Amino acid sequence: MINTNPNYETCQISDIKKIIEKKNYNLIGDVIEFGTFTGGSTKTLSSLFPEKTIFTIDHFQGLEKTNKNVPKDSDWIERAFALDNPLYVDNSNVPKSIDELLERFKGHDNIKMIISDVHQLTQPSDYGIGKIAICNLDVDIYEPAVSALEFLTKCEWSEVFIRFDDWHGGESEYDQHERLAFSEWIEKYKYEFIITHGGFIGGVYVKR
Ligand SMILES: C[S@@+](CC[C@H](N)C(=O)[O-])C[C@H]1O[C@@H](n2cnc3c(N)ncnc32)[C@H](O)[C@@H]1O
Repeated sequence: MINTNPNYETCQISDIKKIIEKKNYNLIGDVIEFGTFTGGSTKTLSSLFPEKTIFTIDHFQGLEKTNKNVPKDSDWIERAFALDNPLYVDNSNVPKSIDELLERFKGHDNIKMIISDVHQLTQPSDYGIGKIAICNLDVDIYEPAVSALEFLTKCEWSEVFIRFDDWHGGESEYDQHERLAFSEWIEKYKYEFIITHGGFIGGVYVKR
């Protein structure tokens, strides 16, 4: 199982720009994001990469019940991050409906929202998805992370940079989530990879 030192760098979204400009990488294509929720990260990606399409996927139902251990200091309860969860009624950062979220995306014409359960996604071409250079993975727990990575395999790319919002390098309580899904994916497909960021938020360059 892949783990990293918690003192490693953390991958801010803005770091992705430096990564894709690296001369030794050949990252070509659009951006795919798993986990839209407030649209915060989506809007940041849209502004950072105005020339790219940002495909962002969410069913807005929040988290399912995971079969893995839930880290004690996480907020990963079932239905966490569901738009209609009463937990967020007084939280102005959380849109109360998909329509409200779409309002927030006004002026960000390069965002394409795909409302779907990641476990039910079909073929990338069904959503107009072509070449992918960047993936922002933010579905928190193991099960949707597995399905998100399987969908990424179906996309067109020879090199891709993946930002893992919940990598938690060195935190053993988080061993069974994004890092496990990533380790199994790498093992299954035998992709080459370089971990560029191994701290709280991970970053990995992958080649096939
Ligand atoms: C932590 S939030 C994402 C935060 C977001 N990037 C932001 O900036 O606000 C996790 C999101 O993953 C979504 N999610 C979790 N499991 C999913 C699944 N099986 N299918 C689709 N979306 C899922 C949840 O609905 C939730 O909106």
